[in-house]
Amino acid sequence: MYDNRASESAVTADDIKIEAKGVNVHYGTTHAIKDVDVSILDKTVTAFIGPSGCGKSTFLRCINRMNDTIDVARVTGDIRIDGEDINDARVDPVQLRAKVGMVFQKPNPFPKSIYDNVAYGPKIHGLAKNKGDLDDIVERALRRGAIWDEVKDRLHAPGTGLSGGQQQRLCIARAVATEPEVLLMDEPCSALDPIATGQVEELIDELRRDYSVVIVTHSMQQAARVSQKTAFFHLGNLIEYGDTDEIFTNPKDPKTESYITGRIG
Ligand SMILES: Nc1ncnc2c1ncn2[C@@H]1O[C@H](COP(=O)(O)OP(=O)(O)O)[C@@H](O)[C@H]1O
Ligand SMILES: [Mg+2]
Repeated sequence: MYDNRASESAVTADDIKIEAKGVNVHYGTTHAIKDVDVSILDKTVTAFIGPSGCGKSTFLRCINRMNDTIDVARVTGDIRIDGEDINDARVDPVQLRAKVGMVFQKPNPFPKSIYDNVAYGPKIHGLAKNKGDLDDIVERALRRGAIWDEVKDRLHAPGTGLSGGQQQRLCIARAVATEPEVLLMDEPCSALDPIATGQVEELIDELRRDYSVVIVTHSMQQAARVSQKTAFFHLGNLIEYGDTDEIFTNPKDPKTESYITGRIG
């Protein structure tokens, strides 16, 4: 169903979207991320896998500075997007989060209309000059979220009235409405049924044409279906990172092998 091959050409510096070096995260005395280095590619889906509590969500939140919102969290190290240090004092985290969109485990539409859910971000970031502009942005984002046809006749109905799978696609539309470059997804299908999961997975495959997509998943089948690159975390360490088919068929580290064969996790 998906074309899962990573690009044939060699990786160049231009393909690197996110570069992390020596990243550590502490929550009080818990050392949740330990010296992680990783280069995440543009126009690629990267899966973060590993046992519960290994730090997948924590590392994902480093990429849009969501850990800033957690009082006890302390992040050190260097993370660059297109070469720019995201933790630089001059970076506004609100602007950063528009550029690095996030979709969560549980679909969380605002208690507003479908239209307003999508229009909210573009409005606060001043992306529309007038109502016509805003209408276009909303339509484009809902099309991107593969949900336009299902909602175009009820844009002013509440977003919370949609099914779970539709709500998650609405949240993806909301995230893409601010023209991000990176999309972070933390177990985006874990609250969805298999049909809705399939629809969201297909959408993720389409989104990689335009974005660098990073998805946390506890499902190795999902990682194998949607990603081209996989990073395996264990106890806060990034154990192995590489082409998804390599990780699943020929892992280099015994810990990766134990996890993918079901012996740890
Ligand atoms: N907000 C938090 N406050 C304190 N500890 C946290 C917080 N979030 C996560 N942790 C701890 O950090 C570690 C990594 O958690 P997490 O990133 O959620 O793992 P994963 O997403 O892989 O399940 C765990 O030990 C977890 O208990
Ligand atoms: Mg998590």
